[in-house]
Amino acid sequence: METVHEIRSLFTSSAFALIPLIAVGAAFVWALWKPRPLDTIPTIGPSGPLSSYISAVQFMFRGREMLQEGYQRFYSGGIFKVPILDRWMVVLVGKKLSDELRSAPEDAFSLDQALVDMLHLDFVFGKKVYLNPIHTTLMKTRMTKAIGALTPDMYDECIQAFEQHMPLTDGKEWKAVPCLATARQVSTIVNNRIVVGYPLCRDPEYINLNLRFIIDMFQLRMMFCLIPRFMEPIVGRLATNIPSQIRLGMRLMKPVLDERVKILEDSDGDWSALPNDMLSWLMASVPKDETLDTMTRRVLGVNVAAIHTISHTFTHSLFYLAANQELIPVIRKEVEKAVAEDGWTKTAMGKLYILDSFLKEVLRFNGAQAWSLNRIALKDFTFSDGTFIPEGTSVAACATPVHMDPSVYPDPEAFDAYRFYKMMERDGEANQHLVVKTSLEYLPFGHGSHACPGRFFAANQLKLMIGHLLLNYDIELETPGVVPEQVWFEAAVLPHQTANVLYRKRQT
Ligand code: HEM
Repeated sequence: METVHEIRSLFTSSAFALIPLIAVGAAFVWALWKPRPLDTIPTIGPSGPLSSYISAVQFMFRGREMLQEGYQRFYSGGIFKVPILDRWMVVLVGKKLSDELRSAPEDAFSLDQALVDMLHLDFVFGKKVYLNPIHTTLMKTRMTKAIGALTPDMYDECIQAFEQHMPLTDGKEWKAVPCLATARQVSTIVNNRIVVGYPLCRDPEYINLNLRFIIDMFQLRMMFCLIPRFMEPIVGRLATNIPSQIRLGMRLMKPVLDERVKILEDSDGDWSALPNDMLSWLMASVPKDETLDTMTRRVLGVNVAAIHTISHTFTHSLFYLAANQELIPVIRKEVEKAVAEDGWTKTAMGKLYILDSFLKEVLRFNGAQAWSLNRIALKDFTFSDGTFIPEGTSVAACATPVHMDPSVYPDPEAFDAYRFYKMMERDGEANQHLVVKTSLEYLPFGHGSHACPGRFFAANQLKLMIGHLLLNYDIELETPGVVPEQVWFEAAVLPHQTANVLYRKRQT
């Protein structure tokens, strides 16, 4: 009797102890399987609460195929979703829906919020910088207006950067350099001539800091995907390189800023005594209490926007030029003629229509992202096909699938450097087909009011670098005629990471 009682009391006390466990388990299962607002949007790949994580890992390596699958399934216009590690990405297919996203009011969809969410700009740049993005405003306004005035300095920097990273000898033998690493160095030096000026733009420590910073931001993103939001500040501070990189940036920037302050004092506040570059424009525009820390973060921010996009496009361009040797004499001739007429100026770069068409084709194949118009919904929104998008959802429009659609670009898999040049000649209206002209069918720079404001600058810098390279160098690939394969990560399109380009002094 005693034993029965003991067993019963043991049972009741265990059952009692199990109740909270069962409740937690049930809540967990409910949290996993409860209906969610995005459930009604078709998914590419598995969409279960656990299997979608496997699918997110697949998307890292098969992003291109999964987006293509969605594009084909909803070819006549529709909406699907794909998982990325920390969220669903809702993807639009078709001009009508993409145009609704492009033209939606600012309080409905936000690019800024998408960047903050994806790149954790709140942690990386701090509230003072991202809530008051003077550097972005300057990129959108002052930088584009100053292209003409800045081009001679950039060309000067081109000469020295190529000489440093691809030194020429008189011999006929080829030398090999890793294409991406070299392109990154050259592009970052040239770009920084008009960001922080000479001599900091040639400081290897500063250049490598900027090149490294975006990789650190990427690592931070991957780490933040795995932890709850409240832990981000502490993990970011203790377990990522961002704080030490900012400190290094401050150490490198301080002497330059001190020198500029002294120039201003010595010239009785004459701003024209300062170099004409982003750093001087920033000094003139930031609040009086701006610190070295925030100024450094702004400069790093300008570099994040500019240098990888330009250096990746430059790398892709070198691969396609080296693989298509017949283009080289044609582009050389075009550059020689323009430069003979106008020198290495913005006017001359504006006359390079074949090179422009080549660059546009390079970006059609290799736009930085397979989707474009990346936004976050700031409030609930319903597209015209009835799809409901709740506040906080990430949304984008297909880009690469459009660029590879035969109904948009005939024979899309063929790289045709003259594709857009032929359109310019056909229509007699070159401007409509330039690389900087965006549309819902040409999305490497986005489209609409947030279309990349740096694209005019980027096109000018790329033409300067390619023009200088072709007039002075022969280039070739280790496997002639074969463009080294792109690398895909999620929706990002990257050039081959290690392939060499061969070079020697121009022989003809
Ligand atoms: C080949 C080079 C480049 C490519 C492919 C590129 C691509 C893009 C894309 C796709 C967007 C988003 C547009 C949208 O969602 O509607 C963007 C935005 C932006 N880009 Fe670029 N970009 C390049 C070069 C540059 C350069 C050189 C700068 C600055 C000097 C720059 C500054 C910006 C800024 C500030 C934004 C945000 C615009 C806004 O908030 O409205 N980009 N870029």
